[in-house]
This record gives sequence, structure tokens and C-alpha cells, in this order.
Amino acid sequence: MPYVPGKPVEELERELGIKDAIKIASNENPLGPSPLAEKAVKEAVSSLNRYPDGDAFYLKEKLARKFGISPETLIFGNGSNDVIDIAARTFMEPGDEAIFGEYAFIVYPIVTQAVGAKGVISPMPDYTHDLRDMYSRITEKTKIIFIANPNNPTGTMVKRAEFEWFLEKVPEDILVLMDEAYFEYVEDKDYPNSLEYQNSGKSILTVRTFSKIYGLAGLRLGYGIAHQDIISNMQRVRQPFNANSLCQVGAMAAIDDIEHIEKTKEVNSEGLTYVTEELKKLDIPYTPSFTNFVLIDLGDNPMPIYNSLLKEGVIVRPVLGYGLKTHLRVTIGLREENEKFIRGITKILGK
Ligand SMILES: Cc1ncc(COP(=O)(O)O)c(C=O)c1O
Repeated sequence: MPYVPGKPVEELERELGIKDAIKIASNENPLGPSPLAEKAVKEAVSSLNRYPDGDAFYLKEKLARKFGISPETLIFGNGSNDVIDIAARTFMEPGDEAIFGEYAFIVYPIVTQAVGAKGVISPMPDYTHDLRDMYSRITEKTKIIFIANPNNPTGTMVKRAEFEWFLEKVPEDILVLMDEAYFEYVEDKDYPNSLEYQNSGKSILTVRTFSKIYGLAGLRLGYGIAHQDIISNMQRVRQPFNANSLCQVGAMAAIDDIEHIEKTKEVNSEGLTYVTEELKKLDIPYTPSFTNFVLIDLGDNPMPIYNSLLKEGVIVRPVLGYGLKTHLRVTIGLREENEKFIRGITKILGK
């Protein structure tokens, strides 16, 4: 099944002849890009005749300093999707197996299938990865275990004790791909930041992105961190200029924009509290979220409500492709966007 992105605002407004539609469908940063990144990108536009630095030297140095790691342990991608794809192409071939959760991020089955490997699905009770079950599914053919922490579209996270149990057990030659696209949003002290386990002797690939908290989804930049042997193998598979020149300067500026990051966290935390309080009042079950979105369960085919929300000018995300047949995923937006969503759903449900 191909990846189905969220509906663009312009498309909805054109189709329904409405104005002021909002898109809370793709887990983007509602505050916009970091203003420092915007400025840096504008200044770099005049050099677009030049190829980018294929090695992203300055960005690599900067991120390496930020995390206290060696630059050789870093790889960039055209979004973290690209890093995930490079990992699949580097470490799997037809006949191999990859393990992922039944409601895990949909790119894992896509990249697994693309290389002719077999996807082994682990059930997700309570919509959370079950690392004991994932461990039990390992065979000699297993090459990659994909774990989104926190996971999209469920918003759930694996906690430290379970992760440490798993890491202790997992064979050293299996790549444990920790997809941490939303880690900056996590406030829970029990979150196992996979960077802290890079020296455990296990093959951990930490994957992160500039698309979420940094607000640079349109620029496309993600990165992977792992032992340099893992990274050097991946470097041979990636396209030479997969991190373009604008995303490199944009990301460097965004890293320094602490104010924007802090503000984003604050807006998200307040918004998540507001939306979940209102969902409780409306008796709509939701999965407790550690991210910038929330999975709601409407108990029935969600498409009529999704379509009615569109008419109210609110784009959320159906998640049928994940086998979540009664759910919608709602990204936390600005205060007025969250209110518009709550007003819309209240009206539609006749509450
Ligand atoms: C869990 C997870 N990983 C990775 C990505 C990919 O993000 P990008 O390719 O924009 O870095 C997303 C985007 O929605 C995601 O939810």
C-alpha cells in the first residue's frame, strides 16, 4: 500500500469553496518554521546554482558537538524516511525478515517490502510496542527491528525498563532502528533516549528529524546516529546529495533557535492538555499521547466524521491504512485550531 499523506489545505478550500480551513493532519509544527531557519534559507537561495556539500560537513560538526558524538557516527537523509529507507536497503535483501509493530509507522512495511524482505508483525496491545513479543519473533533471518518511540500514529512510548530488558537480550548483529521523530516532545522521565545506549555494544540506529519540532518538514532533513561501522555501510548506499543545501543551512539555524523549540513544546503541551480534557468531556476515547498528536477512537467507521470535519474546514487524518478502523489521528495545533476542531466535532456528534 502506498503512503497516503494528509490532505492539503488548498485542495480542501478549492473543493469545498471554503476559507480558513486548518490542517491538523500531518504532525507538523503549528508555529511554522524557526524564524532563524527561515532567514538562513532565504540568504542561501542565491547559491542554488551550486551543488550542496554532499558530506554536510558543517551540519555534521554542529550536530556532533550538540550530542557529544563523533561526526563519523552521523548520516543525513532527505527526511528521516530516507534514513529509514537507506537502512533497509543497506541491511536487508530478499528472504530476510524485519520485525515491526502492527500499528507502527507505515514506512517500515513499505521499505521492507521494497527490498523484497518479509515483514513480521508484532501485536500492539494497548496500541504500544510490546518488546517481549518482538523479541520472541526473532529468527536467524531477522535483520532489522523497527521501533518508533514514541510511535506514530498511536502516540504511545516504550518505557526504560522494557527497553533495557530488550536491549540486554537482542543479538548484537540485528539492527535495532529506534525512530525518535517525536522524542523532543516527550516529557516523561521514563523515556529511554536511545542515544544514551549507543555504547551498549548492540547495533542501535537512532533516527531523528527536522520535520517535527524544528518545523522544517518541507525542507526534508532527517539524520541517523549509530556506530561508525553501521554508518559507513549506509553511506555507501545513500544518494550523494540527499541533504540539499537549503535544508543544511536551515537546520543549522534551527538548532540554535532555542526560543522556537521551547515555545513549540509549550504550545504543544498546553494544546494536548486542552484537547484531551475536551475529549474526556465529549466521552471520546483516546490513547494517551507523548507526542504532538492524539489518536481518537470513534467506535465506528470514522469516515463520515472525517468528511463532516472537512466541511467544517478541519483536516485530520484517517488511519485505516494502519488497520485502525474506528480511529482518527488529530495533530495538536495552535489554540484557535484546537478549539475549531473541538467545536467541529462537538457539533458533528450533536453533543
Ligand atoms: C515515526 C515517524 N518517523 C519518521 C517520520 C518521517 O518524517 P520525515 O521523513 O519528515 O523526517 C514520521 C513522519 O510523520 C514519523 O511519524
